[in-house]
Amino acid sequence: MKRKTFLFTLGLGLMMAGSLLTGCTKEGPAGKDGVDGAAGADGTDGTATCIECHSPEGIELAATQYELSKHMYGEAAFEEAGSTTCGPCHLSEAFKYVCTNNTPATFTLNTATNKYVNDYFVAPDAAYGEITCSTCHSALHTTYAVGDLALTTVAPVPMTMWGGAVTIDCQADGGRSNLCIKCHQPRPFTAGLADGQVIDYVGLANNPTAVFYDGDATGNKLRPAYRTHTHYGTAGAIFAGKGGVEFPGTAYTNSAHTTLASCQDCHMAPMQGKAGGHTFFAKGNFNGCNADGCHTGVDATSASLWTGPRADIKASLDALAAKLTINGVDILNRNPDAEHNLWAANTTNKYDGYLNIYDPITNPEGVANNPNGLFRNPAPSNSWSQAQKDFNLTLPKITLTNAQMGALINFQLCLRDYSQGIHNYKYTKALLQNSLAAL
Ligand code: HEC
Ligand code: HEC
Ligand code: HEC
Ligand code: HEC
Ligand code: HEC
Repeated sequence: MKRKTFLFTLGLGLMMAGSLLTGCTKEGPAGKDGVDGAAGADGTDGTATCIECHSPEGIELAATQYELSKHMYGEAAFEEAGSTTCGPCHLSEAFKYVCTNNTPATFTLNTATNKYVNDYFVAPDAAYGEITCSTCHSALHTTYAVGDLALTTVAPVPMTMWGGAVTIDCQADGGRSNLCIKCHQPRPFTAGLADGQVIDYVGLANNPTAVFYDGDATGNKLRPAYRTHTHYGTAGAIFAGKGGVEFPGTAYTNSAHTTLASCQDCHMAPMQGKAGGHTFFAKGNFNGCNADGCHTGVDATSASLWTGPRADIKASLDALAAKLTINGVDILNRNPDAEHNLWAANTTNKYDGYLNIYDPITNPEGVANNPNGLFRNPAPSNSWSQAQKDFNLTLPKITLTNAQMGALINFQLCLRDYSQGIHNYKYTKALLQNSLAAL
């Protein structure tokens, strides 16, 4: 985008010429009027800087495209209003709060309860606001110049999933991917049954045969539930090649995108259908792939750059899911409803990344032969009916090794990345392959 500096011309004031005093006390007759001076240059229009942005091809166009963005039409910002912990990624004022205050992604021990507390939250009076122009362009209308479009943040992103122990810094194009990654990153798994600290992901990878969850409620770190998950926004982690449970095996390297491309290159490319620009969608838009001399002629039929890698990652997800079973029963939940399962098309069995654990409240849909989950819920809710509690006890217990827990996390990260290897084929492939080998 063109950025102009405005030079404000100073209007010329009238010069008042005073008469010089000499030693003489008597004044002579007035002299002839001088010729008129040249007219001064026009001053800057009061609205000229406004027009730089407020033009049909400026914010008007961006705003029209933005109507197709899920940031605008999605309902999460409304639903999570008031939440100080969901807010940093779902609420405009909360996002700006964590950027301005540099809120750390660490966990701190509360000595009164002896449990660790996640420091990544905002003040209650900042927990609101739909994601809108000023979420990402937080300087809007501060100086009324085009520079006000500057991005809210391009700073490196300490990962909340890792309690800040791992930091993502994608530097292409001035670090503008970091803006997206600050929100599009996975959330932490915590030891709710123990000290509340973030799970030791490195320990899972280094000690795969150890028991992670033994099926009972004592001596364990985390009680698996239907919703034991990475949350939804895993694209930033996979794109950056950071944050997976890195079991040994194939080396962890990254595709060229990680260092050469930014999210915006593909997600804000010139419009094509419902994607590009301020819709932030990449789906169905290959303009970004074929720009800036990166690729030529890529489209949905390209075998080596599209159908091939995507089919390969889909097969890898299928293979890992097939091994994540106990006595032949899937640990992973299936959900063929593509309206609620955004990733239904990404595996043959239409997994959604949740676990196959009985929960009639949070998993009310179920699928054929699977009434609300096939494993016993270790923590039945008080809100269940007696019949539901009794039924839960007829189901088999779930147990997990470190390898299974780590593989589940990696499955969720790679499934919910959504791109089937387009973001970072090499890292995705290594995570899935090494998880499979660890099982
Ligand atoms: C850096 C770009 C930029 C500049 C410069 C700029 N605006 Fe805006 N303005 C915006 C954006 C972005 C919006 C929000 C548009 C939307 O929500 O669709 C906006 C919205 C508005 C609104 C609608 C009310 C609101 O707050 O949503 C008014 C009125 C407005 N601007 C007036 C002005 C005036 C007057 C100037 C010049 C003195 C100016 N703007 C300069 C970007 C700019
Ligand atoms: C303030 C946090 C935040 C920032 C910054 C942000 N996003 Fe998002 N994004 C979200 C949330 C939250 C959703 C889901 C909204 C909903 O469903 O209500 C979302 C949805 C999306 C979707 C739609 C996903 C789907 O489910 O189909 C895309 C694509 C996307 N964002 C891309 C981007 C890109 C690219 C950037 C950087 C230019 C970016 N986002 C910056 C929070 C953010
Ligand atoms: C670290 C950032 C982050 C935090 C914290 C976070 N979310 Fe999200 N959430 C996202 C992103 C990004 C998406 C969209 C991902 C996508 O669609 O690809 C999302 C998606 C969602 C969706 C799905 C919306 C849809 O389009 O289907 C729901 C519901 C949701 N979040 C609820 C919550 C709740 C409740 C909390 C707090 C307990 C929370 N989120 C905390 C980043 C976050
Ligand atoms: C999710 C983050 C995000 C949101 C929300 C957002 N923008 Fe942007 N906007 C960007 C990014 C990223 C760029 C590219 C900036 C760069 O590369 O320096 C950009 C660029 C722009 C530009 C420069 C020209 C262009 O299109 O690249 C304008 C104008 C603009 N945005 C207006 C708006 C308006 C108006 C809204 C609200 C309707 C809005 N933006 C909402 C992230 C966002
Ligand atoms: C090399 C191009 C490219 C880059 C760079 C890229 N993406 Fe994507 N992204 C895609 C493609 C392609 C899809 C899948 C679209 C489909 O399935 O048709 C996708 C899917 C997504 C989705 C799911 C919703 C959607 O658009 O369909 C989100 C969210 C997302 N990307 C976020 C990001 C974020 C955040 C970054 C930067 C950290 C990023 N992407 C970088 C190409 C890219």
